[in-house]
Amino acid sequence: MMIRLDKYLADMGIGTRSRIKKEIRSGQVIVNGKPICRPELKINTDQDEVLFQGEPVTYEEYEYYMLNKPAGVISAASDRQETTVVDLIKDRKRDDLFPVGRLDKDTEGLLIITNNGELAHRLLSPKKHVDKVYFAKVKGIVTEDDIECFAQGLDIGDEKPTLPAELVICSSDEISGILLTIREGRFHQVKRMFQAVGKEVVYLKRLRMGPVTLDDSLKPGEYRRLTEEEVDRLCSQERKP
Ligand code: URA
Repeated sequence: MMIRLDKYLADMGIGTRSRIKKEIRSGQVIVNGKPICRPELKINTDQDEVLFQGEPVTYEEYEYYMLNKPAGVISAASDRQETTVVDLIKDRKRDDLFPVGRLDKDTEGLLIITNNGELAHRLLSPKKHVDKVYFAKVKGIVTEDDIECFAQGLDIGDEKPTLPAELVICSSDEISGILLTIREGRFHQVKRMFQAVGKEVVYLKRLRMGPVTLDDSLKPGEYRRLTEEEVDRLCSQERKP
């Protein structure tokens, strides 16, 4: 990809465009061994070697992170008052990252954070039916009848009932532990599905989204880059019909 030198450096988090232009003009940048003073110089991101103040700066068109979202943080790119999931990604280079979909403020677990809009769009497309797996603690005893109702699809007050969902009971008590796989991403969907069978979700955590599973070594608030294999799996998943 061909890109202006000042944009190349700004995208990689070196500073603002205006500061970078000054730095380039004052000879702080070397491209392929030569000092360059023109911010508008076109760089080939696959081939050219760029040094800023003597340090190599490699270009990444896309960044991909897996975050174990903690409760209390909102699923947005930025917010004037509240901490967002993107604020938690301290090592990010790019300033155009956003979460792929939303988890409620009190929900924990897997959130993919990227700047690849096309990938996000396809993963979230209602037509793609990408699996999402949640663990929940639910007030009340979850029954075989509930499993059947979830498998049939539930009326949660929307125009259409939910698609069939797979409910597995892990523990059954005053507070039951369950695993739920859904193939849609409606607003408050898991909580509303349980409401529809007269039960309340008191804790919710997403464990998997399509081919990517939350790394269980990540504590709430921790994150890591997706591996190349995970990114490949996401990209090939998005091309399935
Ligand atoms: N379903 C919910 O109810 N909340 C979430 O955060 C995700 C799925």
